[in-house]
Amino acid sequence: MKQKSNLFFRTINCLINRSLVAIFATGLFVVNGFSENISNIKDKSLLLKPIKNLNDEQYDKFILGRSFFVIPWVEAPSATTARDGLGPLFNANTCVSCHPANGRGTLYNKNMQFSRSLIAKLSIPNDNSKEHKEILKTSPLIIEPTYGGQVAINGIHGVNYEAKPDIKYKEIKVKFPDGEVDTLLKPIYALKDLQYGKLHKDTIMTFRLAPSLNGLGYLEDISNEDILKNTDEFDTDNDGISGRSNYVYSPITKKMELGRYSWKASTTSLKHQSADAAINDMGLTTSLFPKDNCTKNQKACNEAPKPRDLIDLTDQRLDAISFYIKNRKTYSAKKTKAYKEGLEIFKSISCAKCHIDNFTTKSGVKISPFTDMLLHDMGEGLADGRSEFKANGNEWRTAPLWGLSLHEKINKKSPRLLHDGRARTFQEAILWHGGEASNSKKKYMNLDKQAREKLIKFLNEV
Ligand code: HEC
Ligand code: HEC
Repeated sequence: MKQKSNLFFRTINCLINRSLVAIFATGLFVVNGFSENISNIKDKSLLLKPIKNLNDEQYDKFILGRSFFVIPWVEAPSATTARDGLGPLFNANTCVSCHPANGRGTLYNKNMQFSRSLIAKLSIPNDNSKEHKEILKTSPLIIEPTYGGQVAINGIHGVNYEAKPDIKYKEIKVKFPDGEVDTLLKPIYALKDLQYGKLHKDTIMTFRLAPSLNGLGYLEDISNEDILKNTDEFDTDNDGISGRSNYVYSPITKKMELGRYSWKASTTSLKHQSADAAINDMGLTTSLFPKDNCTKNQKACNEAPKPRDLIDLTDQRLDAISFYIKNRKTYSAKKTKAYKEGLEIFKSISCAKCHIDNFTTKSGVKISPFTDMLLHDMGEGLADGRSEFKANGNEWRTAPLWGLSLHEKINKKSPRLLHDGRARTFQEAILWHGGEASNSKKKYMNLDKQAREKLIKFLNEV
């Protein structure tokens, strides 16, 4: 009798398991809009983990992508042709060195020097010439003629690096209506040890800190319509907040498309962004960006030994990297009582008009990324004067706030905030908000101390 019932239960179990496998395999394991690939546990290796429902083939692709993301690339020619082709000019030799544990980069390294996660980018103004107009059809901007679009802090053997960051900070005091005073650090951008002579006299310089790669698969899965719904370019609802989409040239479809990634939303997809990172951050060519990043003024760079393969990162590998980035677990805070209280304040002072806390993805997953994926004029204080496709010098994409709280777990220090890492605390980040976010900042400053503290506590959990 006992055996019989065992057999019965085993058959039932087996049927249940099979149907679970079937659900997993379709990739639709969503119950009431909640996915088990979103975790609220602050685990420092969470963002490294694969989502649950990968089949064998997908899992292999994930592992392949991960290997190209974490294994150091070497210079050509080398015995390991699978991953040679680094440089000639580069900032780091692995993706993960700028996105530690797939989180946000740090501003300083252990020697208290600017870390490699902080990148200097260069451009010159568009002079409206025929030549510039032609370039701008497919390129976000006009790069600086001698150093190119990004400053490399490393070069392979025989090729000089380009320059090192040299940012100074000026203190600015901000006084709250209730008398509290906070101090902001205003960065003064410069480069030192320039190895290839002077910069163009009209050079526009910006610094960018590597953002967290939390939840990127879900952000890719928000429909264009849901993003565009929140644009209000001419502020017709008169709330002081507009929100524009960036439209950028996609080297994949060869068309203008909605921009989603990077601080100015100037890349269209994870594949586009990965190929952009490969060439600019590591000097790895792809079919999308097949030319090495040497300018014509950089002789050693142009004459450096070439790898045996024409393309460093083949389409199959680039696909694997993008697949890896897309299919990792996501952090999203637990909706505790304190969270709900904080969120209420966050909404009451209009933070959530840009940092949107609810989207439903195309696969039906409810997410709280705290971004609208749109560009906003953030005022003179944050402006870098650099345009990227439709984004102008004052505009930034609303930074997604989810997952920032993992930084402390990963790096044992709080994250430096904003595009160049100038803000040391959440309050400093808020105080830098200007332009379309001026009213929201004012409302924050007018909250009583207790409410401000509740909001900051909430941000520490998000
Ligand atoms: C030298 C440092 C560095 C390296 C190496 C690096 N990144 Fe990044 N990454 C950055 C910075 C800085 C940004 C923001 C760029 C910007 O806004 O202009 C960024 C942005 C991104 C984003 C967009 C995230 C978002 O929310 O918009 C993705 C995805 C990404 N990197 C993937 C990669 C991949 C894949 C590699 C390896 C091929 C890589 N990165 C290598 C510094 C780096
Ligand atoms: C008009 C749109 C808008 C409003 C309103 C707004 N923000 Fe932002 N927020 C942004 C943009 C855009 C950025 C990125 C700016 C940059 O990096 O230069 C940002 C950045 C941040 C950051 C830093 C994130 C990071 O990754 O470094 C925090 C924290 C933040 N906002 C919190 C708030 C809070 C709290 C409020 C309400 C008081 C608020 N924001 C209101 C648009 C907005």
